[in-house]
Amino acid sequence: MKTRITELLGIEHPILQGGMHFVGLAELASAVSNAGGLGIVTGLTQRTPEALAGEIRRCRDMTDKPFGVNLTFLPTVSSPDYPGYIRAIIEGGVKVVETAGNNPQKWMPALHEAGIKVIHKCTSVRHALKAQAIGCDAVSVDGFECGGHPGEDDVPNFILLPRAAEELDIPFVASGGMADGRSLVAALALGADGMNMGTRFMATREAPIHENVKQAIVAATELDTRLVMRPLRNTERVLRNAAVDRLLEKERALGADLKFEHIIDEVAGVYPKIMQEGTMDAGAWSCGMVAGLIHDIPTVQALIDRIMAEADDIIRRRLAGFVNA
Ligand SMILES: Cc1cc2nc3c(=O)[nH]c(=O)nc-3n(C[C@H](O)[C@H](O)[C@H](O)COP(=O)(O)O)c2cc1C
Repeated sequence: MKTRITELLGIEHPILQGGMHFVGLAELASAVSNAGGLGIVTGLTQRTPEALAGEIRRCRDMTDKPFGVNLTFLPTVSSPDYPGYIRAIIEGGVKVVETAGNNPQKWMPALHEAGIKVIHKCTSVRHALKAQAIGCDAVSVDGFECGGHPGEDDVPNFILLPRAAEELDIPFVASGGMADGRSLVAALALGADGMNMGTRFMATREAPIHENVKQAIVAATELDTRLVMRPLRNTERVLRNAAVDRLLEKERALGADLKFEHIIDEVAGVYPKIMQEGTMDAGAWSCGMVAGLIHDIPTVQALIDRIMAEADDIIRRRLAGFVNA
C-alpha cells in the first residue's frame, strides 16, 4: 500500500507505533520497523541523553529499517535536558521524530538541518494547522478515543479526521482507537494517509512490558477507561483500576481546589511499577478505548500482516462489492 506517509517515511505499510512511556523501548520499535511499519523509541523513558543514545544504538542493532524517536515536550517547570536529547537523536542518525505536547518550533531548524522528518502529534485541527505552519512534515491526529492525553476538546476521530483532511495540506495519520484493518481503511476513507497505534501494540509478544499489562488490555472492554486530571487541564485516558477510582474520588471531593500534589501518589513514577513489575494497581496508566477491540497477543509481524491482509480484503471485496454490483 502506497500513501503519502509510506513515501515520506520510506516504509512499507502506513502503520506507525506511537511513543509510549516505558513501552517504547528498542524491542518494540525494532519489531514494528522490521514488520514494515515505523517503530518509535520513546525518548523521555531514557533518563539521560546518553541513555537515549544507547537505546538508539540498541534499536539500530535490531533493525536496518527506518525507526523514529518520540520526544514529548512536557508542561513541567523543571524541563528535561531537551537540547541533549535532540543532540542524541541527531548524532544517532535517526531520521524521524514524533513530537508531542508543547509546540516543537524551537527545535525545527536543528532537526530539519539534520534531514530529520518531524511528525507532530496533536489533538485538534488548530494545533495541526500550527504544526503545518511551523514546518512539520506530517501530523498524527489523536482523537478523543486515544490512550494517553486526548487534550481538552473531546472531538472523536469520526469528526476530527475529516476536519483535519479539510484543512491540512501535509500528510497525516489517524491516531486513537486504531486496531485492525477496519481501522486502517476507515482512516484512509476519512482522509488520513495511515494510522498510528499505541494500546494495540502493547498487547504484542515483543512489547517489553509485564504480562499482567497485556492480559489487562485483553480483558478490558471499551467501557473500562476513565479520564483523569481533567480539573488540571492535563486530561489523560487510563485504564480503570483501584488507584484510578481513588484519584477520581479525590477529584470529586476537592473540585476546583484539586492540585497536582493531591494525586501525586496515583500518577507520579508509577510506570516502572506497572510496566516492569506488573503491579496493576500501582497507579494510573494510559490505555485507549480500543482495548475493547483487542482480544489477543500476537507477534508484531503477525499483527501487521493481519492488518494489511484485512485492509486489502475490505477494499477489494467488501467495498468494491458495493460499487460493482
Ligand atoms: C501506555 C501509554 C503510554 C504513552 N506514552 C506516551 C508518551 O510518552 N508520549 C506521547 O507522545 N504519547 C504517548 N502515548 C500516546 C500514544 O503514542 C498514542 O498517541 C495513543 O496511544 C494512540 O491511541 P490508542 O492507544 O487508542 O492507539 C502513550 C500511550 C499509551 C497507551
